[in-house]
Amino acid sequence: MSVLNAIRKDLIDAFNDASYNRVSAEVSVSRRPELCDFQCNTALKLTGQYGKTSLEIAESVAEKLKDRHELHYDVSVQTPGFINITLTDAWLVNYLNSVLEDPYLGSEPAINPQKIIVDFGGANVAKALHVGHLRSAVIGESIIRLLRFKGHEVIGDIHLGDWGLQMGLVIEMLKSEQPDLPYFQFEKAKAYPNLPPFDIDKLTELYTNANIKSKEDQAFRALAAQATASLQEGHAGYLALWQHMMNVSVADLKKNYGALQVTFDLWLGESDSQAAIPFVIKWLEDRKLLVVSEGAKVVFVDEETDKKPMPPCIFQKSNGAVLYGATDLATLYQRIEHHHPDEIIYVVDKRQELHFEQIARVAYKSEIVPSHTKISFIGFGTMNGHDGKPFKTRDGGVMSLKDLINTLIQGAKSRLVDTIEDKDKDDIALAIGVGALKFGDLSNLPVRDYVFDLEQFTSFEGKTGPYIQYALVRIASIKKKINVEESETFPITPPVTDSERNLMLKLCMFSAWVDLATSLRQPSKICDYVFELSQTFNHFYHEVHIISEQDMIKKMSYYSLLGLTQKVIKQCLWLLGIQELEKM
Ligand code: ARG
Repeated sequence: MSVLNAIRKDLIDAFNDASYNRVSAEVSVSRRPELCDFQCNTALKLTGQYGKTSLEIAESVAEKLKDRHELHYDVSVQTPGFINITLTDAWLVNYLNSVLEDPYLGSEPAINPQKIIVDFGGANVAKALHVGHLRSAVIGESIIRLLRFKGHEVIGDIHLGDWGLQMGLVIEMLKSEQPDLPYFQFEKAKAYPNLPPFDIDKLTELYTNANIKSKEDQAFRALAAQATASLQEGHAGYLALWQHMMNVSVADLKKNYGALQVTFDLWLGESDSQAAIPFVIKWLEDRKLLVVSEGAKVVFVDEETDKKPMPPCIFQKSNGAVLYGATDLATLYQRIEHHHPDEIIYVVDKRQELHFEQIARVAYKSEIVPSHTKISFIGFGTMNGHDGKPFKTRDGGVMSLKDLINTLIQGAKSRLVDTIEDKDKDDIALAIGVGALKFGDLSNLPVRDYVFDLEQFTSFEGKTGPYIQYALVRIASIKKKINVEESETFPITPPVTDSERNLMLKLCMFSAWVDLATSLRQPSKICDYVFELSQTFNHFYHEVHIISEQDMIKKMSYYSLLGLTQKVIKQCLWLLGIQELEKM
């Protein structure tokens, strides 16, 4: 059980013993560690309720807690009614020894494991991945890992943007460059070349040029829209080209996401939901939810309690084209049919929040999604440059993810120690660079914008990814010097210094922080915790002479404490999707 839960349970009993029945006691980590480890301020909230002051209530509860758990806690009361709790060293050591061999390090599985679909990544086929997609991938990956660690069944779906105007843009651009290709000649040709007429660089170039052209050239834009419509209606040559675009693009996406250590269980996209759209439209029509407004088919979703205007959700334009909303509703329908999830989480740019609110309302109103299935939205802000505007390349263009990763590798390389062999340098620099970026991103709340600061992110000092990775390097090196069989275990003995006790206390808190991060869906809580743990470890390391310790039992206890610290830091890095390193 997590330490916080154990204390809470004991506190509830103590409130009961003192005749304050059914009080839901709250306990938190102490803000004044010099006074106590944990604090309960529930008595303050009960002031006047039992004809007693909060101090009287706190004192009687503290007495009961002492009576029952003398060996576990030192308890005292502070005006006007705080109950201060300090773990006894015996309890602390006992707890740590019990989790030494536990693969979950004291964390317990969720009582009600859920089936959860996470819609994240959201890359668009044919367009280069840019830093906006990075945030979705980084945050989504960490949330998935947190949920899985707690025992939930999670399905991650990239939900590719693979059915929109960009397809028509590429088709028209290619047509203008190479009109003789077979894809454009007959609509019902039986066979097209197996090999695509472009590689990823050429595809990106086609899209980039087409995008520029469409902004200047109305006629070209209209042609691209027409080509998109023909593709969607089943034009065989365009479909063959579309398949090429998918193959080339998805292979490239897999490579890029691989470098970020982000993986998806499903590589479905907007195109996969198209088959369900007519059904969903009919479903809405049958329930008289779909109405024609100004020529378009819409569903009204405003509610009386709305504080902000809630526009109707548009599904089909007057020209018959179906929109983003229809695709998302059809995708929801398919997800419910195939997976029966308890929850669906979207990790998408916060500017799309209104869209997802509309979709969720239509989904519940039409009962396409049952009321017991939760739809959650985790919206994220932008990654900015020092000027406070979305991060760009030096010449002002949109930064591709590939270029960003290269920038990070260069930044990290300059900080590597000389003893690292040349052959290892690239891999280590990649792990540091990507780790630095992920930590820099995840240590903020998703919804906040943040500034990409290469210098600060890759620094080995301060609250950064490399600082945490470096703590692991340090632990590995001392463990090596102590030189015992990795498989041997030694009991942890009571602390002799404050810095040792502080480290023990921090290790005890792992499961509580995992629970907090998971319930709030905030990987930043893991960043906070693992940073504090690494700092506490560094104090311990500087203050205690581990290698020269003469008492062998104590020395081996240090060895176990190091091993546990190592495991907990590694687990935190795993939860954040950051690679661990043994040298850097
Ligand atoms: N492809 C979209 C974009 O780049 C994000 C997709 C988000 N997920 C969804 N189900 N609509 O903005």
